[in-house]
Amino acid sequence: VRIYVPCDSAALALGADKVAAAVEREIASRGLDATVVRNGSRGMVWLEPLVEIETAAGRVAYGPVKAGDVAGLFDAGLVEGGSHRLSLGITNDIPFLKNQTRLTFARCGLTDPLSLDDYQAHGGLAGLKRAVGLTPTAIVAEVTESGLRGRGGAGFPTGIKWKTVLEAVDDRKYIVCNADEGDSGTFADRMIMEGDPFVLIEGMAIAGIATGATKGFVYIRSEYPHAIKTMERAIRIARAAKILGPSVLGTANSFDMEVRMGAGAYVCGEETSLLNSLEGKRGVVRAKPPLPAHKGLFNKPTVINNVISLASVPVILDRGAQFYKDFGLGRSRGTIPIQIAGNVRYGGLFETAFGLTLGEIVEKIGGGTGSGRPVKAVQVGGPLGAYFPPALFDTPFDYEAFAAKDGLIGHAGITVFDDTADMLHMARFAMEFCAAESCGKCTPCRIGSTRGVETLDKVRMGVEPEKNLALVADLCNTMKFGSLCALGGFTPYPVTSAMTHFPEDFRPAPMREAAE
Ligand code: NAI
Ligand code: SF4
Repeated sequence: VRIYVPCDSAALALGADKVAAAVEREIASRGLDATVVRNGSRGMVWLEPLVEIETAAGRVAYGPVKAGDVAGLFDAGLVEGGSHRLSLGITNDIPFLKNQTRLTFARCGLTDPLSLDDYQAHGGLAGLKRAVGLTPTAIVAEVTESGLRGRGGAGFPTGIKWKTVLEAVDDRKYIVCNADEGDSGTFADRMIMEGDPFVLIEGMAIAGIATGATKGFVYIRSEYPHAIKTMERAIRIARAAKILGPSVLGTANSFDMEVRMGAGAYVCGEETSLLNSLEGKRGVVRAKPPLPAHKGLFNKPTVINNVISLASVPVILDRGAQFYKDFGLGRSRGTIPIQIAGNVRYGGLFETAFGLTLGEIVEKIGGGTGSGRPVKAVQVGGPLGAYFPPALFDTPFDYEAFAAKDGLIGHAGITVFDDTADMLHMARFAMEFCAAESCGKCTPCRIGSTRGVETLDKVRMGVEPEKNLALVADLCNTMKFGSLCALGGFTPYPVTSAMTHFPEDFRPAPMREAAE
């Protein structure tokens, strides 16, 4: 019997290694015929560490398990899926999991991340096997037809980006995977790299074959040591199995890849500063044009895509463009892994077709706030995303619908706040964050963010509040339209949305105290 204990960072942070060791000890001392498999996470973070057992009826789950619970679990007949106070029943019947459409994350949490046999037994490599029999133009057409858009945040059509690189003529081209997942509250990239690294390798190999690139780099942030280690080991396994190398799956296609570690700058998630960093230079933003698709890494045509965009390609090649396109709404096709975080009851990763409303995600799936207090605001799209009040909870999760409400879905992270949140403080935090992370190349971002902090402090202290609020609005306008990249350009989203939807929080402190 196989007993699953996740090796995902979130589970590790909650004690999964200790649980795995305790399970091993019980197996040995009771002389049981059982093996511990370290799987990825199912994405239900509030239940981690989630221990699962294979039974005839399917996998049975227990959680959250502490090392001290393990002996009791064995006493209750864990190996047969016996009942215990931590029993959660059949894993796939847990509503949070059951209500998902897992295409990109189909295997995450199910398999041993570094077992190629497991990967193939669960449908892995089918996309690459089909791709090697197609022409590059046909692969690009399939990805374009699927409607897949960049999951890093900007939502640019992946197929069109690939077409630009395919059509570029040069002696060398590159595939770069942006795994510098810097948005607070997001963890989809990390979860897939730790839980199903081969799917990213497969997606990058398909991208290489589709565009004529023979070399790939995964740029992973230094804060992700487990993801780095897992990706490195998976690449070595894939190379030994001839999935990577001079003859991909025994064909004339050549593609190899390696991992590069970032050094902890948020701005290195911006594609051009990421390319500078990869080249060993300081992570400063480059002006566009030229686009990376024309002149990217080492000045060569480069596909630069987010982890989730690339990891969604194998299922598209395997099941076909139409299958993928049938999910979603409007111009947002397929599925999106929504990362639910902050003050929320059920935090975790929920992959679903585009189109659920924000209210459904927060209230139904997330179960409302963790504190039990009313929801005040939800920040969608990371630290540069807008704050949405419950009045906008009918907004469907879709690129265009969020843009129409002066927001963005970004990398699909949502952070929930209850009614104790101080939105002036959150607006100030956005400016402070921008000041700390600015690469310094352009003035609106470098100077504007610091002036933003100072001006919001004046509002807080009641120094000419109306004049200073108007100044903040004006400053936001300058940053939005005058910044070179999304860091300075998007910082106004959290600031202006907080000012628009929560004006009561922008009264000076003495006035607020009097009102309260
Ligand atoms: P962008 O709109 O400038 O570009 C989008 C992508 O399309 C880029 O890769 C660009 O090179 C490519 N592109 C544009 N026109 C093209 C063409 N004609 N042919 C080929 N490729 C073309 O967006 P940018 O500035 O790269 O990213 C901004 C986004 O990043 C925001 O939407 C934000 O949500 C997101 N973001 C994500 C973060 C994360 O941690 N994942 C952190 C911060 C921001
Ligand atoms: Fe650098 Fe900020 Fe300008 Fe972006 S907006 S290029 S981070 S100074």
